[in-house]
Amino acid sequence: MKFLRLCFTGLILLGIQACQSDPAPTEQLSAEAELGKAMFFDTSLSSPAGQSCASCHSPQHGFADPDQLFPVSQGVHPERFGNRNTPSAAYAAYSPAFHYDEEEGLYVGGQFWDGRAATLEAQAKQPFLNPVEMNNANPEEVVNKVRRADYAEQFESLYGKGALDEVSQAYEYIARAIAAYERSHELNPFTSKFDYYLRGKAQLSEQEMRGLKLFEAENKGNCAACHPTSMGEDGSLPLLTDFTYDNLGSPANLESPFYVMDKRFNPDGSAFRDFGLGVTTGKTEENGKVKVPTLRNIELTAPYNHNGVFTTLRQVVDFYNTRDVDEKWGEPEIEANVNRDELGDLKLTEQEVEDIVAFMKTLTDGYESKDKN
Ligand code: HEC
Ligand code: HEC
Repeated sequence: MKFLRLCFTGLILLGIQACQSDPAPTEQLSAEAELGKAMFFDTSLSSPAGQSCASCHSPQHGFADPDQLFPVSQGVHPERFGNRNTPSAAYAAYSPAFHYDEEEGLYVGGQFWDGRAATLEAQAKQPFLNPVEMNNANPEEVVNKVRRADYAEQFESLYGKGALDEVSQAYEYIARAIAAYERSHELNPFTSKFDYYLRGKAQLSEQEMRGLKLFEAENKGNCAACHPTSMGEDGSLPLLTDFTYDNLGSPANLESPFYVMDKRFNPDGSAFRDFGLGVTTGKTEENGKVKVPTLRNIELTAPYNHNGVFTTLRQVVDFYNTRDVDEKWGEPEIEANVNRDELGDLKLTEQEVEDIVAFMKTLTDGYESKDKN
């Protein structure tokens, strides 16, 4: 039910073609999405040139970071690193605008691990100016580059003559076009094996089916409590996240190059800890919570968690299974507000862990169903 509501909110707030049950792979991009796509892939929009949104959100890697050498993202200046693992930009369009849900008593939606950007538009304005990402000094520097781009004409025919003249207005349009692309079918194809299975057009193997059951069972994996798997009553496909926030108690990743970054970017040095939603809301009771990520395309997006501390899916499930009974996991990055109720000692067998991993591998887009036509 919760998902259904989110789904409708997404539809209304964002005007996306959300919640459709059939993918439309041949669908054309709108002119606005087409323009957004040109900017999403334009490596001239960084300073110096060389990095685009797609450098860290690559379509071949589920719109997450292709670079698996580092647990966190590397900037256009190669010696600069951010503090977090790059999440997938795919299906981010379905995250409702950041808000506090009075009924449930929790924060929901928004963009980034900590929800600090309310919408896709607000999000898209940040990477251009982030010194550890695309490193432009200000919006003007970005707009100047767009003025020189070969899609500048397209920009003006879409938003009107002179749409690039005034910097703050032009910057709004840039964010709008990128968000339109992020809402297009290219980032939201719903073409995984699991999608075909839900539409009755593919069969899961025995192991994948066991994995799905374990993933959903409250007394087993209980994963679907936060990564929902059921279709909405309107036929909408699940997003494998409820867009809420939680602190799983995952350990700090001391191998992150962020810890040894220049004081300018990391004033806390090795004492840095990621307080997540606590910083966004200014509330200590939210410290350590991060947004539940979608598990769509999860096979393609290693490493895992906000700090990239886990390198394999197997390791992630092991952590859920034995966090509270195996000392090897060490201390949580943030001790406060760790979820002690829903994970930590699941008592799954090795085989069950493998089965859950096998299920998660059915979430990769681009599966060709034999009988889908
Ligand atoms: C240097 C790598 C890098 C570049 C370049 C980059 N991103 Fe990201 N992106 C990240 C990281 C890291 C995060 C998470 C940051 C955080 O939570 O603080 C992120 C988060 C996001 C999210 C939020 C996803 C979610 O589920 O919360 C979206 C959407 C996104 N980026 C889109 C973009 C767009 C659009 C651009 C280009 C304007 C871009 N990114 C450029 C690394 C990058
Ligand atoms: C209480 C909510 C909750 C439950 C239950 C839950 N997860 Fe998660 N999951 C999260 C959150 C929050 C994160 C991000 C944690 C972090 O970055 O520290 C996450 C991260 C993940 C990731 C890494 C995603 C990425 O993009 O890095 C995987 C894989 C995953 N979960 C699988 C599972 C499986 C399998 C189960 C069941 C065994 C499960 N989850 C149960 C909330 C939950």
